[in-house]
Amino acid sequence: MAAYEYESHDYDVVVVGAGGAGLRATLGMAEQGLRTACVTKVFPTRSHTVAAQGGIAASLGNMGPDHWQWHMYDTVKGSDWLGDMDTMEYVAREAPKAVYELEHYGVPFSRTEEGKIYQRPFGGHTTEFGEGPPVQRTCAAADRTGHAILHTLYGQSLKQNAEFFIEYFAIDLLMSEDGACRGLLAWKLDDGTLHVFNAKMVVLATGGYGRAYFNCTSAHTCTGDGNGMVARAGLPLQDMEFVQFHPTGIYGPGMLITEGVRGEGGYLTNSEGERFMERYAPTYKDLASRDVVSRCMTLEIREGRGVGPRKDHIHLNLSHLPAEVIHERLPGIAESARIFAGVDVTKEPIPVLPTVHYNMGGIPTNYWGEVLNPTKDDPDAVVPGLMAVGEAACASLHGANRLGSNSLIDLVVLGRAASLRAGEVVDADAPVPEAPKAQIDKALDRFDRFRHADGNVPTAELRLEMQRTMQEDAAVFRTDKTLAEGVEKMTAVAAKMDDLKVTDRSMVWNSDLMETLELANLMPNALATIVSAEARKESRGAHAHEDYPERDDENWRKHTLAWVEGNGVTLDYRPVHTRPLTPPEEGGIDPDKIKPKKRVY
Ligand code: FUM
Repeated sequence: MAAYEYESHDYDVVVVGAGGAGLRATLGMAEQGLRTACVTKVFPTRSHTVAAQGGIAASLGNMGPDHWQWHMYDTVKGSDWLGDMDTMEYVAREAPKAVYELEHYGVPFSRTEEGKIYQRPFGGHTTEFGEGPPVQRTCAAADRTGHAILHTLYGQSLKQNAEFFIEYFAIDLLMSEDGACRGLLAWKLDDGTLHVFNAKMVVLATGGYGRAYFNCTSAHTCTGDGNGMVARAGLPLQDMEFVQFHPTGIYGPGMLITEGVRGEGGYLTNSEGERFMERYAPTYKDLASRDVVSRCMTLEIREGRGVGPRKDHIHLNLSHLPAEVIHERLPGIAESARIFAGVDVTKEPIPVLPTVHYNMGGIPTNYWGEVLNPTKDDPDAVVPGLMAVGEAACASLHGANRLGSNSLIDLVVLGRAASLRAGEVVDADAPVPEAPKAQIDKALDRFDRFRHADGNVPTAELRLEMQRTMQEDAAVFRTDKTLAEGVEKMTAVAAKMDDLKVTDRSMVWNSDLMETLELANLMPNALATIVSAEARKESRGAHAHEDYPERDDENWRKHTLAWVEGNGVTLDYRPVHTRPLTPPEEGGIDPDKIKPKKRVY
């Protein structure tokens, strides 16, 4: 057995990750009077939420009529009827309150002439249950909304005396024999020490796994660490086949160009200069939902109408917008386009391509953030001591496809909900139970095996193989053939984890080892994605299956569950929550409004 010393810490709550969801949960837990630690592998304000540009959805109605029920309807339709209705109602109803709370915490939102929070149109957000014109629902701080929220929440968390463990890499969850979470093991990157965090509640807020793909808008840190830890704890991941491609990543490097550009009046054109979205989505055009726009762009390229010498991308035009609009509302993307595409957006279009952006799937939870371990008898069974929030979680607000600006609202509403629930179930006066020693030893052994891995395949080489396989075989459009090949290739790629070569054996700032641990987290995410996708014989939301082009509610309106062990994946399914929280006679949405129907924009 590996001999390592470690330091122990006791907390009521340990949050892993300091993005928007992690910080909102941390702040809420501390406000509840719980002793709260936040363990994060990057400095909080460098978390990936900092890259969120366009805004946060809430039916404030500052720019025209809006209603939480319209927001809920749009989210249901956007999800292609796979989202859980209780979660969708909870978030749509709580959203305005959560945004005003952010305003009071100090988020510097852009303003209207009358001093109200400025809101812009975003794809798939409409009025009158999808019958009216697009709505301006997305509250923005220019095109740096995530940046503004992250800085504010970090400051507020410090004010509430939450304790931060910064540049600590979480290695594994420590589970008791009866299946409760008791804490986690972490590695302090800058001095090489190891730390056991004993906790009454662990909250995973570790973000998505965009880096399982070759081309994505996600930071290099988006390696699905929480999902990896959950898979190793023998718990399932949910709806992993639904991977969102954002229509406008910069061609080549993949940086995000916010949907806010189209919200402010920008539009897409093909090599013939045609505004092709008018053909595919006659009502909402460039403001159709993301999965639809990404597919239309891909079709234009496939049919030979892509732009550039290789005809392999699309143009995003905004040079017709007044310079002051660009300067005031879109300064960040003007800078990104200049640096990464060499384009002056006041004069030229930006070359763009659909790019992996968001994972709808993740750790199954209820809308309070409690992690689920579904059984046949109880598909909503809760894992004691474990919560998940943000992109790592699958609550399921977004179902098969997320609407733009519904991610930031997910982070703050459900991050806050988790803290409210923890306030009820965590007893601040009880002693902190110790994590089982056998589990600590097991986690240390695994860590040591990677540290001394002496096989033939460098981590970077295997990571690239995984990324290229996922990019090719779990793409915008999928077929039985590509998915079957993808499963075969990914199984072989994952098997090479046993033949890894790590060259640096040190404990201090060993990026070789850290990237290896990240790869070990990415791998179950990638496997669960491709195997779940291969099994789903329909098209729904982001899962566009060319051999089964229609949605099949009779057989497939259900959540996929994927258990990953080594390079094997076992699948099962659990029902979608089709009932909203509030009956119509008590002010809830009319059930007829949210019945499944054909999804057209
Ligand atoms: O386009 C964007 O600004 C991205 C927003 C989102 O993913 O919610």
